[in-house]
Amino acid sequence: MASDDWTKVCVASELTQDMPMAVSWEGVAVCIYRIGEKVFATADTCSHGNASLADGDIIGYEIECPFHQGRFDVRTGAATLLPCRLSIATFNALEKDGAIWLQNKNDDAPNKVSTTDAQASSPISEER
Ligand code: FES
Repeated sequence: MASDDWTKVCVASELTQDMPMAVSWEGVAVCIYRIGEKVFATADTCSHGNASLADGDIIGYEIECPFHQGRFDVRTGAATLLPCRLSIATFNALEKDGAIWLQNKNDDAPNKVSTTDAQASSPISEER
């Protein structure tokens, strides 16, 4: 990659379709996802407890936490199902040259998604 803003975090073939995977990036535990033709990245730690989202299940564009089955939209970081209420950070991710790369959305890492914005755009539901 030409830009120093991007960091290679794994070989692309390591990231399996619909299987979340934890990586360490700039000292931050990040969970990366391959869903369809795209890759996504969020903080790996659930905002409700100390669970690794990489141990959860992908349902559509949501990651379901393994501890209490709360959910987040991996595209926005918004909490979408209780008991999760607070959003999680998201990061720009892409697949290129046989690798998965992450870029911070802003210059200051990690970039926390605004809880207010995330909740306003994605109401939390009690059940699915
Ligand atoms: S720790 Fe994730 S839903 Fe409770």
